Amino acid sequence: MSVQPAQPTPPGSGSGEPALEVRDVTKRFGALVVLRGIDLVLRQGEVLGLVGDNGAGKSTLVKILSGFHQQDGGDVMVGGERVHFHSVQAARAHGIETVYQDLALIPQLPVYLNLFLGHEVTKLGPLRFLDKGTMRKLARQYLDDINVHVPSVDAEAAQLSGGQRQAVAVARSVRAATKILLLDEPLAAMGARESRLIIDLVKDLASSGRVSIIVIDHNYAHLFELCDRINVMQGGRITIDQPVHETSLEKLTELMISSYRSQLEEIPNDGA
Ligand SMILES: Nc1ncnc2c1ncn2[C@@H]1O[C@H](COP(=O)(O)OP(=O)(O)OP(=O)(O)O)[C@@H](O)[C@H]1O
Ligand SMILES: [Mg+2]
Repeated sequence: MSVQPAQPTPPGSGSGEPALEVRDVTKRFGALVVLRGIDLVLRQGEVLGLVGDNGAGKSTLVKILSGFHQQDGGDVMVGGERVHFHSVQAARAHGIETVYQDLALIPQLPVYLNLFLGHEVTKLGPLRFLDKGTMRKLARQYLDDINVHVPSVDAEAAQLSGGQRQAVAVARSVRAATKILLLDEPLAAMGARESRLIIDLVKDLASSGRVSIIVIDHNYAHLFELCDRINVMQGGRITIDQPVHETSLEKLTELMISSYRSQLEEIPNDGA
């Protein structure tokens, strides 16, 4: 097997400066230790794929990086600066946008307001107020431009299909991210057309080089198309760190299956 265990790369080497560094990050929920010391580097303009079994802790890591959860230990650095986000708003203020696996949109809000969430257009009057007309118009235009079809930008997010909701969530974050974009299974629930559309949207953003991206997806073919590098999370740590050109879909699949088999062998046989 030519896939090698993770070799921590010194910050600043390789294709670009680190946009994000995670050092020895730990997280537990009560007695359950989920992250046991995550070390990860995301370089400027890079697309990093994160894979791991269900329950490995991928979403937990994304939620720490986006300010939704706080880590118990370890450091997170953004652009070389140590940060500790106590809210999603604090992470947003650092240019970090996230598409959550389970919290894509606010169901009660119309599509156009969801699209501008956290970056609302306001106009000045006696008081600052939301410029709903402009947001509606811009939302319609933007969704048309990128070929995302929704019944109406005035429809509540709750009325959209799962795939439409996810497409709007990805569109929103792609539009808003200025430094780092975190995509937690952005293609789950997506049909072939919408998957293609989202992959192209993310590729466009990546090719601009202005935003660094982490994408979680259980479909390795998507990752091989989108990513420069792949990290594997197992047992609460990053165990593999590989540029995509040094591995292959077959090797990664084989590796994940052999790791699953070795976990099975560790489970005591009940003798039945
Ligand atoms: N808020 C929470 N409270 C308690 N336990 C949690 C919480 N969030 C996640 N967990 C637990 O932490 C572990 C890791 O969950 P996480 O959602 O990070 O996994 P994942 O790698 O994203 O999995 P999947 O591929 O299925 O999305 C799981 O055992 C999960 O049950
Ligand atoms: Mg998850």
